[in-house]
Amino acid sequence: MTGGGRRLGAAICEAFARAGWKVWCQYRASRVEALALCESLRAQGWQAEAVEADITQEAGRRALLAQLTAEAPLACVVNNASAFEPDTGLDFDADAAQRQLGVNLIAPLSFARLVAQQPPGAAGDGERSAIHILDQKVYNLNPDYFSYTVSKLALERAVALQAQALGPAVRVCGVAPGILFESGPQTGDNFQRAARANLLRRPIDPADVARSCVFLAETRSITGTTLSVDNGQHLVPLPRDIMFVVDELLKPVHAAPSSPSSSP
Ligand SMILES: NC(=O)c1ccc[n+]([C@@H]2O[C@H](COP(=O)([O-])OP(=O)(O)OC[C@H]3O[C@@H](n4cnc5c(N)ncnc54)[C@H](OP(=O)(O)O)[C@@H]3O)[C@@H](O)[C@H]2O)c1
Repeated sequence: MTGGGRRLGAAICEAFARAGWKVWCQYRASRVEALALCESLRAQGWQAEAVEADITQEAGRRALLAQLTAEAPLACVVNNASAFEPDTGLDFDADAAQRQLGVNLIAPLSFARLVAQQPPGAAGDGERSAIHILDQKVYNLNPDYFSYTVSKLALERAVALQAQALGPAVRVCGVAPGILFESGPQTGDNFQRAARANLLRRPIDPADVARSCVFLAETRSITGTTLSVDNGQHLVPLPRDIMFVVDELLKPVHAAPSSPSSSP
């Protein structure tokens, strides 16, 4: 699990551990959270270890894989870590965009093929998998968070492409959540309302996203496809990121002014 110390990553670590997997929880800055999460899971009888790594460099990714596979082959990588920086198509900074592409696109693609390049262990073909965490934005475009969205669009297209490239050794799947946690400049109040701006008019449970990842990792017939776990948010088109338009979207619908009554 990349970026597994907090928020969605922590929920996915917990779901895999509870399903009986041995979980490696990679962290960069969230050392305290990752160590506490894994300690708590171990105290409940599950297997989880926190591991620090720089996933933005190929050398860091290779070193991490070498460390983890010293014991046994890696059966699944969940590419959850992601940078979410505000920019637009007009003013994006090329270096900042490259950094986001590095974390959000190149690292997931690299980890998936490193899993494929492992010598096959006891597990047969199709037992190994890579799961890319996407975003409902890829099915519901708006121009906010431009570089982030470009990185997730490319990763969404790469699910099928990598499934073709890495089969039969490794299955490649995507999970596309909707809004789950406060992000960027969002206030708590804005988030509470934005979390209901979907077809089901209720917040998305991060545990459902986590459960979907376990389902994909354990279902040997699925590859090259993405599950939307977003309460149907991708079917509610918006001109901007939900945090900027939620007030307009959810404003009460007032009764239409009554038409002039006509005399009988
Ligand atoms: N939050 C949402 O509402 C939402 C909605 C749709 C899709 N998603 C997707 O779901 C996934 C998880 O979302 P989240 O909000 O839980 O993620 P997040 O908190 O924004 O980031 C997850 C972790 O990624 C790591 N990370 C961030 N920037 C990094 C960088 N430059 N280099 C290396 N690692 C970096 C961090 O690990 P450390 O803390 O250890 O540094 C961070 O804790 C992401 O892929 C996101 O795109 C989220």
